[in-house]
Amino acid sequence: MSGRLEGKVAVITGGASGIGAATASKMVAEGAYVILGDIQQEAGDSMAASLGPTASFQICDVTRENDVQALVETAVRRHGKLDIMFNNAGIVGAIGPMESTPAEEWKLTLDILLNGVFYGMKHASRVMKKAGSGSIISMSSVAGVTGGLAPHAYCAAKHAVVGLTRNLAAEVGPYGVRANCVAPYSVATPMVAQAYLGDHTDMDKTVRMLADESPLKGRPGLADDVANAVLWLASDESGYTSGLTLTVDAGITTGSVAGAPRFSEYRPMQREAGKMGLDA
Ligand SMILES: NC(=O)c1ccc[n+]([C@@H]2O[C@H](COP(=O)([O-])OP(=O)(O)OC[C@H]3O[C@@H](n4cnc5c(N)ncnc54)[C@H](O)[C@@H]3O)[C@@H](O)[C@H]2O)c1
Repeated sequence: MSGRLEGKVAVITGGASGIGAATASKMVAEGAYVILGDIQQEAGDSMAASLGPTASFQICDVTRENDVQALVETAVRRHGKLDIMFNNAGIVGAIGPMESTPAEEWKLTLDILLNGVFYGMKHASRVMKKAGSGSIISMSSVAGVTGGLAPHAYCAAKHAVVGLTRNLAAEVGPYGVRANCVAPYSVATPMVAQAYLGDHTDMDKTVRMLADESPLKGRPGLADDVANAVLWLASDESGYTSGLTLTVDAGITTGSVAGAPRFSEYRPMQREAGKMGLDA
């Protein structure tokens, strides 16, 4: 299928790499005009160039409201509208136990993962409410719906994105605007390669590692898996969906684990302590 986003205008933060870049690629292939924002000038320029004339790059640090606002303004100035806002930029941020998490690292992590999303929601919703349509998609994580999977600041920010998405959906729904978020488990991107292997370029090893640890036999999480979910939320196919946290996680948050599940073999049921089977 192609043309699912024909003529739509999208802004993607963190679009120079990983999930943002994969999403940009799919959106362009489906007929959208895409404006990428990122702090990486060179990678952003070359990503936009590789996507062709319907994509462009603009430097944007999501911790600066003016930068995020400027991305939205570029979309409106150039194309007269903004249909899709993907608040995606992120880092792993502060790592370690609570008692040794430096306050400065905590604040910067939240500045990128939460405040950056807030700025995107703020300026996109302003434009979309006026237009009476639009889809705002933000990046949460499995760490946004359960504990124990990521560092504290990351977990806090991603939980906040889930809450903010729900609240925003309630506000903008009456104006014809939708707000949703995605919550992926580990997928192979430079961020994950750096966090797990200490080398953001080693994608092959990252993919192999994720395949080995996957609850879906041999199936690693890929940036394209998340991009496909975002594409659906961006398109009119999801037109009746708002406030959703869409997990893309091989079942991790619903109890799936790597390897054989417990209780997978038949045994007579336990009737009461020490007694098995149906006979008294
Ligand atoms: N990869 C995963 O397994 C995974 C899982 C769940 C959620 N996520 C989230 O997905 C998003 C994208 O991550 P990714 O895995 O594609 O990583 P990535 O490192 O490949 O891409 C992230 C991009 O964000 C940009 N960025 C970082 N700080 C920025 C800032 N202040 N302003 C603008 N851009 C900035 C980076 O330059 C980079 O291009 C993040 O929010 C991350 O938390 C990733």
